[in-house]
Amino acid sequence: MTESLAWLKSRIDAFPEIAIVLGSGLGPIADAVTDAQVIPYEEIPGWPRSTAQGHAGKLIFGTLEGRRVVVMSGRAHFYEGHSIDQVVLGVRVLARLGARQVMLTNAAGGINLTFHRGALVLITDHINLQGANPLRGANDNSLGPRFPDMTFCYSPRLRELALAQASRIGVPLHQGVYACLQGPSYETPAEIRYLRIIGADLVGMSTVPETIALNHMGVEVMAFSCVTNMAAGITNEKIDHEEVLETGRQVREQFIRLIRAVLPSL
Ligand code: HPA
Repeated sequence: MTESLAWLKSRIDAFPEIAIVLGSGLGPIADAVTDAQVIPYEEIPGWPRSTAQGHAGKLIFGTLEGRRVVVMSGRAHFYEGHSIDQVVLGVRVLARLGARQVMLTNAAGGINLTFHRGALVLITDHINLQGANPLRGANDNSLGPRFPDMTFCYSPRLRELALAQASRIGVPLHQGVYACLQGPSYETPAEIRYLRIIGADLVGMSTVPETIALNHMGVEVMAFSCVTNMAAGITNEKIDHEEVLETGRQVREQFIRLIRAVLPSL
């Protein structure tokens, strides 16, 4: 982390207040950033490469709605073979560069039957089933405490703000609990029934490690899922990554309206 952090500190023109992490298919949100300074991941020493299709692999520093932001377009996933430390390296660095609030976005499968393909969901809580935790190992006391509390890991203050802004601009925003699995295979119908029983509304393969690492550092987290497909076994259809990306493309406009609406009030 120190290598990436030092390199970025010496390169960037403006330090961010807020970071936005983009999930599958949501990359073009980054185009809305003005005065953009774009840094491809390949240039940053120690930064993990993103291999997932639909993930661009660049940082965009600039301004959005009058706020100094950095957009992380493309994230590292555990299923790509990165260590859990590498998975959270990006958000740790962005927090160290000054981001005190982070908006995480992802593509997710909908488990809650009141959701539908294309629905936007505010994450209220999570269930970590990834079999990994980014805080495993010796605790880095300079980052945060050994046993950080996770009761409010999706900031209630930011959630209230998001709901208020969504309702103001007329973007329907659901709420739900996100279960994080390792992937990369999608779930079986039996696994989805199990996840519903244990209280999950959404399922995906990201976001939770970042949320844990950011809460450890005392950074406020707000997270949104786009339901790109209903989870396995709910409809009679197979889950196709192309469909996941296509739904992301379809809701992009709504997503960016929501992000723009929320930013000034953060
Ligand atoms: N399962 C897990 N991750 C996902 C899904 C899903 O159905 N859709 C998008 N990401």
